[in-house]
Amino acid sequence: APIGVPNLQQCELASDTSVTGTPTTLQFNCCLPITQNVISFSFNKYKTQKRVRQAAHTVREDYIATYTRAYELMKALPDDDPRSFYTQANIHCAFCNGAYRQAGNSSVPLQVHFSWLFLSWHRWYLYWHERILQSLLGDPSFSLVFWNWDDQRDGGNVMPAMFARNGTALYDEKRNPANMPPAIVKLRPGTTGNNSVIINQNLNDMYQNVVTASSAELFHGGAYRTGTDLSNSTVILAPLGGSIENGVHNGVHFWTGNPALPLIQDMGTFTTASRDPIFYAHHSNVDRLWDKWKYGLPGGQRSDHTDADFFNAEFYFYDETATLVKVNVRDSLDNSKLGISYPSVAADELWVDYSP
Ligand code: C2O
Repeated sequence: APIGVPNLQQCELASDTSVTGTPTTLQFNCCLPITQNVISFSFNKYKTQKRVRQAAHTVREDYIATYTRAYELMKALPDDDPRSFYTQANIHCAFCNGAYRQAGNSSVPLQVHFSWLFLSWHRWYLYWHERILQSLLGDPSFSLVFWNWDDQRDGGNVMPAMFARNGTALYDEKRNPANMPPAIVKLRPGTTGNNSVIINQNLNDMYQNVVTASSAELFHGGAYRTGTDLSNSTVILAPLGGSIENGVHNGVHFWTGNPALPLIQDMGTFTTASRDPIFYAHHSNVDRLWDKWKYGLPGGQRSDHTDADFFNAEFYFYDETATLVKVNVRDSLDNSKLGISYPSVAADELWVDYSP
């Protein structure tokens, strides 16, 4: 059976264990606010203005000011408001670290990583996060930016300057101090060598994770249905995880978080990753790369999973009115229906045409 929405009344502390160094387990209360109503998503109910998410390193100062303002407003909401930055971050923690149990199978924790749920769940997460930011600004044309870390030529592969200004609402103290600009992103943790070695490794990993991962099984990850138990999977050992998740996506999380903290907070672990506003730009790039994989590679369009348990898996999010909304995977598969698009990125060709 497909994954259903969990019972939000039954919430436990989430726990998170370091995967590097001395194992440390920390517990987090990321139980989500309970709301009166639940509605089901439909495209009619949730009209969106078409918008193009731009690369973070290319946007102008006025856009950065608006973006900063949006996060100031979100961070100013009270913690128990479903639209607050606090709750937005907890949504990630809650569905990744055992706060809830699978519907219809209370012995198994719900996990939206390490499987075919990964890309769809995160697309929806950004979709609602972006709607809330739009509504706080009163600007339905506002959109997230993407962190173009796969760009090894035109300036995308460093921490975008807009997120690196100490003291702003887009900054997070809990990052690796060694990786502030102009440090080049290492998509593969532990890469050593000069910038040209890192760049070459980055291109190789992009090629391996996106171009050679030709099937849905390889790229999205494997089947996760009611009863599938991933509570023993970790970011280091995730047998059902897809190439993009297990590879470059995790790499950017580890690169950004602070290795001096026990869980490589904030970005280096699920419980805290989305406390860093850069998370949403990071995942916009993952989302862009899903479209690139599907529509933009030589050899023609690639296919997502077509299994009914994939299409019908359901998640909860909060909309911009703080109402709980039930969504499914099927409705997430076409970004254009959600109003979202990305510009074409010329530097993609460097990894698309990379030859190992
Ligand atoms: Cu939910 Cu980038 O992880």
